[in-house]
Amino acid sequence: MSSSFSTNFRCFAGFLVVLWGRIMYANGCFTSIISFGDSIADTGNIKHLGSITGQAFPSLFPPYGQTFFNKPTGRCSDGRLIIDFLAESLGLPFVPPYMYDQGRDNVAKLDQSVNYAVAGATAVSSQLLAEEGIQNPVTNASLKVQLQWFKHSLLSICGNASDCKDVIGRSLFLMGEIGGNDYNFPIRDGKPIEEIKALVPSVINSIASTVNELIEMGARTLVVPGNFPIGCSSAHLTERGSENEEYDPATGCLVQLNQFVEYHNELLQTKLNQIRELHPYANIIYADYYNAAMQIYQSPYTFGFTNGALKACCGGGGPFNYNSTTTCGHEYATVCDEPDTYVSWDGVHLTEATYKVIFKSLFQGPYTTPAFSSFCYTLSQVGVYSESI
Ligand SMILES: *[C@@H]1O[C@H](CO)[C@@H](O)[C@H](O)[C@H]1NC(C)=O
Ligand SMILES: *[C@@H]1O[C@H](CO)[C@@H](O)[C@H](O)[C@H]1NC(C)=O
Ligand SMILES: *[C@@H]1O[C@H](CO)[C@@H](O)[C@H](O)[C@H]1NC(C)=O
Repeated sequence: MSSSFSTNFRCFAGFLVVLWGRIMYANGCFTSIISFGDSIADTGNIKHLGSITGQAFPSLFPPYGQTFFNKPTGRCSDGRLIIDFLAESLGLPFVPPYMYDQGRDNVAKLDQSVNYAVAGATAVSSQLLAEEGIQNPVTNASLKVQLQWFKHSLLSICGNASDCKDVIGRSLFLMGEIGGNDYNFPIRDGKPIEEIKALVPSVINSIASTVNELIEMGARTLVVPGNFPIGCSSAHLTERGSENEEYDPATGCLVQLNQFVEYHNELLQTKLNQIRELHPYANIIYADYYNAAMQIYQSPYTFGFTNGALKACCGGGGPFNYNSTTTCGHEYATVCDEPDTYVSWDGVHLTEATYKVIFKSLFQGPYTTPAFSSFCYTLSQVGVYSESI
């Protein structure tokens, strides 16, 4: 009897140890977030960088930020972005921009998370795009440049090189979305899609080589998003829409642009499979931004977007409330009363309410492959998940 008791006790104690281990794990899913990308994830770099043209970026003006931060932070929305909801749900602070305050020598001392994403950034370098006749009027901070910043700041983030590998391994890497602008600029210049399609392999290679390099530096868990259904963006609908274009009857979105994005996303996933074979110990998670957003475009009312999905909340008028000379942030642009009933914030970017639905669909729901929750199952206990859509 006593031996049985002691066996039981040992089992029970063992169970406690396992449970304790899980709780420890639960409280420290990832110790930090390292982010690369464009305006979908930029939490303020554009504010400190300025733009190539010398014109202040629209997101530096009200009403950007009005819903959550009560001031413009540089984020391209009325409030939080996907990356902000991700940080909250992991129990981490908002991911600070690499270029905070005085710029790049002052980097990354706030905490270990760092955001290198810059609004307007492309996956392919500005020089290479320029050779294809594509000008980026916003920034030269392409993915390669962002990776160089990361390398430059590693020592200030984690002390010495061997510490770095640990820190990198415990970080969650968010790789975008990136690549959307490589296409947006030529699309807005009116270039034919067939011509733009030729860029896709370069964009995919840039993302893939960055992912490879990060894994070789010690990254273990990387979320790699695909592109959004840009055929549903108010800006493209305004500028590209015409009688000759085919529209999806279920959503009103531009078919050709969405098919183009699906092509990009398929190539990206094929490439990610190759990287998984090269690096079986890395967790490479594809984030299906396209379908996570598409479910909203297909039935916006289900998600509470009672003003529909295609008309921007903030803009300069017209059928989609988008005017490229009077964009949101411009003194003559107007803003809607209830941003959380709109999918589109400024015609290009989405409202906080939309980003929240997308965040939940990805990181709690079925739109990550493999499921993000299998790497960080405790997420559901924290923050935004307990709230309703
Ligand atoms: C951006 O890149 C272009 C093309 O290479 C170059 O002419 C320009 O000086 C760069 N601008 C900045 C601000 O670095
Ligand atoms: C790196 O720093 C840690 C403490 O921060 C120290 O324990 C370790 O020995 C250092 N490693 C090297 C190679 O300097
Ligand atoms: C866009 O705004 C400008 C300046 O406010 C205006 O002149 C122009 O007519 C507008 N374009 C459209 C299509 O509404």
